[in-house]
Amino acid sequence: MNAVTVRLGPRSYAIRLTSSYRQLPAWLEALRLEPWGCIVSHPSLLRRFGRELIPPLRRAGWHLRTIAVPESERSKSSAMAERVIRRLARQSAMRVPVLFAFGGGVIGDLAGFVAAVFRRGVPYVQLPTTLLAQVDSGIGGKVGVDLPTAKNAVGAFYQPRLVVNHLGLLTHLPPRQRRSGVSEIIKYAAIGDPALFRYLEDHLTACLRGELRADRVMVERCVRIKARVVSQDEQETSGRRTILNFGHTLGHALEAATAYRRFTHGEAIAVGMACASALGVAMGVTPRADHARLSRLLKAAGLPTRASGVPLAAVRRALVHDKKFLRGTMRWVLMTRVGRVLVSESVSPSVMWPVIRHHVT
Ligand code: GLY
Repeated sequence: MNAVTVRLGPRSYAIRLTSSYRQLPAWLEALRLEPWGCIVSHPSLLRRFGRELIPPLRRAGWHLRTIAVPESERSKSSAMAERVIRRLARQSAMRVPVLFAFGGGVIGDLAGFVAAVFRRGVPYVQLPTTLLAQVDSGIGGKVGVDLPTAKNAVGAFYQPRLVVNHLGLLTHLPPRQRRSGVSEIIKYAAIGDPALFRYLEDHLTACLRGELRADRVMVERCVRIKARVVSQDEQETSGRRTILNFGHTLGHALEAATAYRRFTHGEAIAVGMACASALGVAMGVTPRADHARLSRLLKAAGLPTRASGVPLAAVRRALVHDKKFLRGTMRWVLMTRVGRVLVSESVSPSVMWPVIRHHVT
């Protein structure tokens, strides 16, 4: 596979899988962007991989600046967005800069948000460097920053002009971050790709070790699902995009209840997926054997299926404040079998709370 297209009419764009940035200048030239760019990234990534990215662009005539932001979830803030905007305003007085989001989810969300609001929108390119960002957050145009009181409280749907997934960069991931990405990949397999689920069961060691072949399979298959879902329901209005939230109902609540410090995103949604699939069993929607397969795979990947020591009251508060808590009903994505899901707004509290209590101990 060279490219998958997110089909959104004139805002369509390609997601490219590659093992180097050598062709990036040619892909950008085809988009007819003015060669004036700003790379938003972390200092460590610029030090380690800047040499792969910057020289090919400069040789092709690009004028580039960099804006380095600290490597922390706290960088995804309105204060940091303002700092980036001020720097951009100083650097590009008479120009329309192209922003390059070179990093993981924090960088992608922050730089994408800045691109959406700076001069009412400038082009941006996603260059995701983590497994999670390559398969999920770098695609689909959900951009935003957190407020001190709420995650993703300020944001927009603003699509990139191009996504370039450089698989060679994934070798830098520490094991915990890689497992977090694998959790999101298990989600994709569970919602829409039974063959990928089997692949994960059969090749889990290679997937956790970061073998290039396994990374290619995982990224390619997830990208296809994400591109299809976003093409069908860009702004999550028809409900189709909601299926990407499998495991996220409880997952987001666990992250919020622990101030985003205790769990990686992948760990939180692993507990969320185990809980949602147990809920499916309790409701007669999910076959027991499929629930068991999912739990087995999560555990084999070293991911948690229960969260201990998290106050249930805090989880309850976070659940009802979540965007997925619509008009007083909580939305759950439930697995009807491995590879298929449905969205339910009719899970009764008497079924739901005992299952949640079992997973939050
Ligand atoms: N990460 C879920 C979505 O993009 O809709």
